[in-house]
Amino acid sequence: MKDSGAAVAHIFNSAVAAAAIGAAWEAGILDVLNQNRVLNLADFAEEHGLHLRSTAAVVRALAAVGVVETDGGGEVVPAEHFAEVYRTRSFFHWMTRGSGELFRRMPELLPERARHGDYYQRDSAAIAFACREISAFSYDPWFWKAIDRIEREPAVVADLGCGSGERLIQLLTRLPHAEALGIDVAEPALAEAAVATAEAGMADRTTLVVEDVLTMAPRPEFDRVELLTCFMMGHDFWPRTQCVRTLRRLRELFPRAERFLLGDATRTVGVADRDLPTFTLGFEVAHELMGIQLPTVEEWESVFEEGGWVVVGKHWIDVAVGEVIFELEPR
Ligand SMILES: C[S@@+](CC[C@H](N)C(=O)[O-])C[C@H]1O[C@@H](n2cnc3c(N)ncnc32)[C@H](O)[C@@H]1O
Repeated sequence: MKDSGAAVAHIFNSAVAAAAIGAAWEAGILDVLNQNRVLNLADFAEEHGLHLRSTAAVVRALAAVGVVETDGGGEVVPAEHFAEVYRTRSFFHWMTRGSGELFRRMPELLPERARHGDYYQRDSAAIAFACREISAFSYDPWFWKAIDRIEREPAVVADLGCGSGERLIQLLTRLPHAEALGIDVAEPALAEAAVATAEAGMADRTTLVVEDVLTMAPRPEFDRVELLTCFMMGHDFWPRTQCVRTLRRLRELFPRAERFLLGDATRTVGVADRDLPTFTLGFEVAHELMGIQLPTVEEWESVFEEGGWVVVGKHWIDVAVGEVIFELEPR
């Protein structure tokens, strides 16, 4: 009974700390600690116009789970779990800030009768913010290897579900003569992309369009696209019939696409619930609540041929949620 009490307290405190990790990252606390190894709370709060007692409360939640230590006098230093939390900070942000509304409304999303139309909300700008970082430490090293294998610079690259536009900016930096097309269904994410591409001085090489990739009609600018990329949204193509249809449709919409780099999370297979690493549970529970069935790697592999593509390369990354990148060519 006593053991359970402590364990359950830890569950509760961890829930508070999960939100605090997302907040501390967004407020800049984690970055300062990572860089300087010490942070003075009063100075930091004043410099950033933050309410001191609330900021101290966020830090206290981090201290409760061993992420930081405080000396009682306002100095904060990293503690034993800081390095791992810093590495995975974007997962916490994705869950509490980007998907917080989904988890808050969990009981309302269970009745069958409630699951129609736009029955859930998430913060697409916050998700775009977290995904930029998730991509950097999971997909990007493999993504650039796949880009390096492309022999001729594409005239136009289109990123499906482009989110914050970070991938477009990085691609345009690497491909100095190319133009970019960012397609996303969420206007707040595209607004972030518009600001980011303008700040990077790439607005004149970038076109951003609000479209649902699953239903969009042909556009003249699609005809010049030679490279297609799609990261962390391919699971929205599913279930299977819709996925095959979408893959075929992409061939028609982008008739000159010579290469399609598709990177996404996949459903875990054979890991006990108690052994799941950071992110997997939140990611998979959230997608079930949203009615999105995450495919396994095998399920993905079963659709390409039917969808009109051949796999010419596969990178099994598996940092947290079965991440994989498929290099595809038209069949
Ligand atoms: C998890 S984020 C990934 C963003 C970006 N690809 C990256 O790598 O950081 C998924 C993005 O796909 C977009 N998205 C989801 N379903 C879509 C659809 N059917 N059509 C267009 N965009 C979609 C979301 O709005 C969101 O910006």
